Amino acid sequence: MTRRVRTAVFPVAGLGTRFLPATKAMPKEMLTVVDRPVIQYAVDEAREAGIEHFVFVTGRNKGVIEDHFDRQYELEQTLEIRGKTEALLELQRDLPSAGRTSFTRQQEPLGLGHAVWCARELVGDQPFALLLPDMVFMAKPGVLKQMMATYEETGGNIIGVEEVDPADVSSYGIVARGSGPDAGFRITGMVEKPSPQEAPSNLFISGRYILQPEIFSLLSEQTKGAGGEIQLTDAMQIMIRSQMFTGVKYEGKVFDCGSKIGFLTANVAFALDRPDISEDFRKATRNLGLGIDGDYLG
Ligand code: G1P
Repeated sequence: MTRRVRTAVFPVAGLGTRFLPATKAMPKEMLTVVDRPVIQYAVDEAREAGIEHFVFVTGRNKGVIEDHFDRQYELEQTLEIRGKTEALLELQRDLPSAGRTSFTRQQEPLGLGHAVWCARELVGDQPFALLLPDMVFMAKPGVLKQMMATYEETGGNIIGVEEVDPADVSSYGIVARGSGPDAGFRITGMVEKPSPQEAPSNLFISGRYILQPEIFSLLSEQTKGAGGEIQLTDAMQIMIRSQMFTGVKYEGKVFDCGSKIGFLTANVAFALDRPDISEDFRKATRNLGLGIDGDYLG
């Protein structure tokens, strides 16, 4: 029987140097896509997938993320007095309930593998989901929920993947595809940031994982890999010898909000997808002669 996934890990310790000066005093995870912080999209997606415990691996200057996932009594009171019920309800809906968030610090920026390893005591000996918040998805149902459906059938480890332009494979982890359908195929290998010649496919790891806890002991022995960092992909590549890894080519599309272009594109796509502002946004851009028109097609 597969063990239920109740805990999700969110690595949020990155410095956000690609977004300076915006991220000098503010964490990059608080940058907004339309009016919601990037981190909120990942938390919403996890909750939709049934996650109950939210573990954040943070660093210096990230205190505001903790504040974001807390009550704000003064604000709530003001909204109530002003009769802004919808905004108030939305704030309450966005919040994981008390005691369901945990925060730990990475202390040193040694790479994604190290950040995940820092969550080991909070996760314990159980399978967990891992969501990289820079990666924001437009998908219904959410990508993690789609992956959970596969996990319930296969157990083991699950990695969400999407096709990438072969010229861009060296920015991501790339998987080798074995047999099976898009909703659950065997992963036979993976490599972090390969050159286009080395890449085993054009399916890239887009920031959503379900992992078994044995990954932690592998991460503790992991030496530095691509970019001089402790890489999660390298530990998974070792674990594949003893455990099953299943790929899910989900329905939906990722926006890499760790890059300026991905972030700006996400803002346009989500604005066009929002019933409350899409019409006005379209009009405004048309007036500017920008030609953002039509529905977002995905
Ligand atoms: C990390 C992972 C990589 C994955 C990517 C998705 O890389 O190591 O496998 O494809 O996230 O964003 P990073 O973006 O931290 O360089």
